[in-house]
Amino acid sequence: MPAHVIVGAQWGDEGKGRVADWYAAQSDIVARFAGGDNAGHTVRVGDDTFKLHLVPSGVLYPDVICVLGGGMVINPVKLVEELKGLADRGIDISPDRIKIAMNAHIITPAHIALDGAREAQRGEKAIGTTKRGIGPAYTDKVARVGLRTGMLADLEDFANRVKAHTVYSNRCLEALYGAEPLDPDETATSLYAAAEFLKPYLTDVPLMLYEALQEGQQVLCEGAQGTLLDIDHGNYPFVTSSTPTVGGAITGLGIGPRHIERVIGIAKAYSTRVGAGPFPTELLDEQGDRLRGTGANPWDEFGTTTGRPRRCGWLDTVVLRYAARISGLTELVVTKLDILSGFDTIKIADAYTFRGKTIRELPGDQGLLAECAPDYQTTDGWQEDIMGVTDYEKLPAAAQSYVEKTEQAVGVPIKLITVGPARAQTIVR
Ligand code: IMP
Repeated sequence: MPAHVIVGAQWGDEGKGRVADWYAAQSDIVARFAGGDNAGHTVRVGDDTFKLHLVPSGVLYPDVICVLGGGMVINPVKLVEELKGLADRGIDISPDRIKIAMNAHIITPAHIALDGAREAQRGEKAIGTTKRGIGPAYTDKVARVGLRTGMLADLEDFANRVKAHTVYSNRCLEALYGAEPLDPDETATSLYAAAEFLKPYLTDVPLMLYEALQEGQQVLCEGAQGTLLDIDHGNYPFVTSSTPTVGGAITGLGIGPRHIERVIGIAKAYSTRVGAGPFPTELLDEQGDRLRGTGANPWDEFGTTTGRPRRCGWLDTVVLRYAARISGLTELVVTKLDILSGFDTIKIADAYTFRGKTIRELPGDQGLLAECAPDYQTTDGWQEDIMGVTDYEKLPAAAQSYVEKTEQAVGVPIKLITVGPARAQTIVR
């Protein structure tokens, strides 16, 4: 059986966790391949809402094995908190079903301090990071001075490495940013208990996945963030430091590309973005406020990780075509279609005006995205509440037309549509 990959087709927060939960029901293994606790995946089961940051969404199915892949950066303290929180709610978190790759990187208090100090120094040019230490942990990884999860196998040695890493990071904190240094001993102590807890979870993940795929098991590769936050293919520098596109599944998990049969892009029925950076279809009026919601519901547009209000705007199919191209999407899932109910008209950006010309693709240098103005098609809205609809043909004609216009513009079939946060509020096409 093959591997299926889930990627975000926009700026993150597309509802990947909820969709991964849907596909997890048909999977043996769910493996998260990139990012860290900057991600927030909300999954609703019955009346329960689970907010996951590091653990893959498959954890809510007792028979699914969950993997934290080598492409991730893991804050051990946060992971232990999340695992214990799941255990308190009756979820099996034993090392028999949760596996941590030995080549993932560890986020330390020094990384978090550096993230905050760099953002403060950037001032008005801040990226708006989640301040979870993501960028500095990946920086250490590529500088070949990072701490890897495999080091947890020898706890005394790990503690010494944390101390040395803190001394090294303190030099940057003090000299470059004028920030307070951290106490190396305290830092090592703060990580020790979490390291001890996580040690039994260490696994040779690439080998495990290879054997599972050879045996015919179904592996779901779960991404975090979204295409335009990709370190290489996103809207640099307003990006995260990992690879949320399909290549991240291959390098982050150590599986060969020939195993991948489906690449499922997740797109919200409109657009959102958190943090700084250009956003051509952003709505700064009451329509944007309406898409955002008030924050009263867990599915309103406020960050799962930081609680920040998300910037909201109309759907941008230029972005979706780009995501389809970069990751070779075989299909799309459209989430939160129900949020568009009640608008008289809805807009879809299908091209941009850039320096007086119409362009249908993102500028090759995404630094120029700030100069792109959206060219909209206006389509009829619908007034009906569609949260109870489970049959595509029962959607209002205007909603069907919106889905079909999106599909035509992107050139990728839309296979699943969600119309509410519960598992049952899903339309299979
Ligand atoms: P970092 O990943 O914390 O370094 O943040 C870099 C950029 O990515 C910022 O604009 C964040 O708001 C954004 N970002 C990181 N993770 C997510 C996510 O899960 N959803 C949406 N935006 C994210």
